[in-house]
Amino acid sequence: MTHKLMILPGDGIGPEVMAEVRKVLSWLENDAGIAFEIEDGLIGGASIDAHNDPLTDDTLDQCRKADAILLGAVGGPKWADVDYNIRPEAGLLKLRKELDLFANLRPAIVFDALVDASSLKPEIVKGLDILIVRELTGGVYFGEPRGIEDLGNGQRRGFNTQTYTTSEIQRVGRVAFDLARKRDNKVTSCEKANVMESGKLWREEITALHKAEFSDVELEHMYADNCAMQLLRNPSQFDVIVTDNLFGDILSDEAAMLTGSLGMLPSASLGNPGSPGLYEPVHGSAPDIAGQGKANPLATILSLAMALRYSLNEGQTANQLEQAVQGVLNNGTRTPDIMAPGCSEVSTSAMGDALIRALEKTL
Ligand code: IPM
Ligand code: MG
Repeated sequence: MTHKLMILPGDGIGPEVMAEVRKVLSWLENDAGIAFEIEDGLIGGASIDAHNDPLTDDTLDQCRKADAILLGAVGGPKWADVDYNIRPEAGLLKLRKELDLFANLRPAIVFDALVDASSLKPEIVKGLDILIVRELTGGVYFGEPRGIEDLGNGQRRGFNTQTYTTSEIQRVGRVAFDLARKRDNKVTSCEKANVMESGKLWREEITALHKAEFSDVELEHMYADNCAMQLLRNPSQFDVIVTDNLFGDILSDEAAMLTGSLGMLPSASLGNPGSPGLYEPVHGSAPDIAGQGKANPLATILSLAMALRYSLNEGQTANQLEQAVQGVLNNGTRTPDIMAPGCSEVSTSAMGDALIRALEKTL
């Protein structure tokens, strides 16, 4: 069986970290006997430069036909002044929306070897393993009406619409409850039901879903601002956090920073069964360090592990890859972002090579 992969390196450090993923893919083909059919495409600024469009219909069609899509990162100062509708981020948002990738899984894991990289005290973050399930195709990101209107008298009004329907809340809620059952069996649902009707509905629908289908899972509701505070105070109280698109965007950055190593965190965006998943590192395009061999490729490599697990039915290989990442960290191999005293600092490509050596040891 051949797995069809679509690779979208994107902008900034995207192509560099993706080059290391390609090394891993060749290793998996040659040494682990897993067959891939790989296609490449442009997204974000790279696609704007080539086609004046951050995601062309042809690339979107290729993505639809894949089993999994691996993405590097989009955006950068070079495209700060392009028309708002064709900015690099619009390509990513279109991909999420067109493929109906409504559930965004963002794990925040503190690796033992990196516990000192966190800005929080080691005793607060040691062993941390939480999963944010962010709704990804609804809410204020896509709600209509939206726009900027002229009110006259030199006044303008910018507006967006926060909207959620029962089924949008239920489907992402199901993903969160299902995943919690395979973990520590607890879901924290976050909204602002004290201020927003969409939050009130969110809370009511999650409560009803829990009662009907998941009463074996522990459920807790929390206002999103309190969640932001609790993540810093005592992050280990959380197992799975389910929340809307905007709160999820913010809370997942906060959770990522708890680990002290944005360069280590993968993500998966999943849609309905049978449609391809999208896998990307949580870090952005980091234009300030692009092209210098400083980027950490491990988040993108761990995103490949998530693809193997969630889209390609190769869970064992995913475990093997994650084990190799642990091995590399335990050896003291570090890119600059996770460098620590007594460790050896390596380039992006040397990190990829070290990972391949660690993979060899897992055979
Ligand atoms: C993310 C990013 C995106 C978002 C941007 C690049 C559009 O911040 O994936 O979290 O806001 O969703
Ligand atoms: Mg974000």
